[in-house]
Amino acid sequence: MELVKTIAELRGAVDDHRRAGRSIGLVPTMGFLHRGHLSLVVASASANDITVTTIFVNPLQFAPDEDLDAYPRDPEGDAEKAAAAGSDYLFLPEPAEMYPEESLTTVTVAALSAGYEGESRPTHFAGVSTVVAKLFNIVGPCRAYFGEKDYQQLMIVRRMARDLDFRVEVIGCPTCREADGLALSSRNKYLRDPERSAAPVLHRALEAGAHAIRGGEADPAKVRNLMAQMVREEPLARLDYVDVVDSRTLEPVAVCDESNRLIGAAYFGRARLIDNMAVRR
Ligand code: PAJ
Repeated sequence: MELVKTIAELRGAVDDHRRAGRSIGLVPTMGFLHRGHLSLVVASASANDITVTTIFVNPLQFAPDEDLDAYPRDPEGDAEKAAAAGSDYLFLPEPAEMYPEESLTTVTVAALSAGYEGESRPTHFAGVSTVVAKLFNIVGPCRAYFGEKDYQQLMIVRRMARDLDFRVEVIGCPTCREADGLALSSRNKYLRDPERSAAPVLHRALEAGAHAIRGGEADPAKVRNLMAQMVREEPLARLDYVDVVDSRTLEPVAVCDESNRLIGAAYFGRARLIDNMAVRR
């Protein structure tokens, strides 16, 4: 695997491969790679000739009071893991390479960015869509792999690619979990032992909601209350939101059905964790 620090170098390498007829897969990440990230690398490597993994802790998507400086980093470990999973290039730009001056241009995917994560983190998704637009422009035509773990992000990136005619096929990959259901996340590192034991309640609540809808419950308020109640019964959890949404528009539904998506977020100590699942098994 080749380590690349500059946009020009990465563009040159990828353009050469494309000219030689090779397909390109892109896996954008913020590093501290775990099995979830690596599942995206594996998916890309199995479907493309060349896989580019990127690691950039994007300051634009962190609010001033968030964990930008504390965000866990392990570039050497990441390089080993990405290579073992089949990545051909690791793009590790410095902030000054990505943002040589203040970015005056922002990409916003309006309605999809407003609710849920967007409500709790008002500037977050503009930061995500802007940096992903840059990565799409740097790498060029490719397949790009994103986790369903960040479901709202996946929908936003997919819509941005469509709205702005990026020559990028956005591919969603299933959420990797621990044995007790906790979705893998770099932020799980912030959990102290008792919080780690409590954290799977979010997944269990979503499962209970899915089970209720599959059993015929059609009232979203009832499903929401059921899920919220489960999270509230865990003393170490502080609920942010749980809801039943349309799996494409992310609008709250009036009547539940098996095509819906369940989404939720909760704090465990200083870690803010999110999760989601399809109702249909
Ligand atoms: P990051 O949180 O590092 O995640 C990188 C990619 O890995 C995202 O597509 C995310 O959905 C996926 N991922 C994380 N945990 C996962 C899990 N348990 N199972 C499957 N996939 C998982 O998301 C970002 O970085 C950033 O916002 C980024 C898109 C890189 C833009 O800065």
